[in-house]
Amino acid sequence: MIPRQEMVNPQACEAPDWLVRPPAHLAIIMDGNGRWAQKRHLPRVAGHRQGAQAVRRTVTICRSWGIRYLTLYAFSWENWKRSRLEVEALMHLLEDYLDREEALMIEKSIRFRAIGDRARLPRSVLRKLEAVEASTISGKAMDLTLALSYSGREEILSAARRLAADAVAGRVDPATLSQEDFCRYLDSFDLPPPDLLVRTSGEYRISNFLLWQIAYTELYFTGIFWPDFGEEDLKQALLDYQERQRRFGAEGVTTADASGGTER
Ligand code: FPP
Repeated sequence: MIPRQEMVNPQACEAPDWLVRPPAHLAIIMDGNGRWAQKRHLPRVAGHRQGAQAVRRTVTICRSWGIRYLTLYAFSWENWKRSRLEVEALMHLLEDYLDREEALMIEKSIRFRAIGDRARLPRSVLRKLEAVEASTISGKAMDLTLALSYSGREEILSAARRLAADAVAGRVDPATLSQEDFCRYLDSFDLPPPDLLVRTSGEYRISNFLLWQIAYTELYFTGIFWPDFGEEDLKQALLDYQERQRRFGAEGVTTADASGGTER
């Protein structure tokens, strides 16, 4: 008899029939937690708590639908300007999320990582992040990336700083540097660019998210507040994406595909 763990394929997924061209990399700006709470006369933190539930739901759905890369904007560099109470609550929710989800990520073969300025994160959050990054490192079914204390401009700037240091040390020649070479200095160096970027809550902004990486990303905006974002809303975004014609700057017609498209 085959032992049970050998019968279970940890990478198995159940993509629905309608999902014919899933984005390889889906990125989401999770917005509207505060307004969700305000509408219900609840404190903002209640919106974030509900937002954390939406994160759990979305990761589970994406994993089961075979989305290979999922990147979530969980806390921006600018979010440090919020009240101490709100920042602490968000950090607590994050730690709690990692505590609760670690085992499931391992079981579902999900590799977790964080991008952003780790130096500003509380020590306990940082320790937990690093522990979960290490324990999920062999996950092959999905890459879940949380952008934390993240700023697209800062990411590009710190890449430029490291590059300049390498140039001064004679390790790179600026004259022959390509876009691919530059990408290797970014936090997201081993992730393909997002195919689809979703933003919730009816705002039409990028808010300093993945500025380099989204040059050819398809954008989708929905008025739904993040805590309410569910399976049907994700389905609508993916159906919309499937109808897009992606040309990457070239002539002719190319429909959306899961190739992760080279940026041309
Ligand atoms: C934007 O809503 C959302 C955030 C700044 C934080 C996102 C956090 C979560 C989804 C929950 C915790 C995360 C994890 C990974 C467990 P907003 O507060 O700016 O909403 P508003 O624009 O309506 O005020």
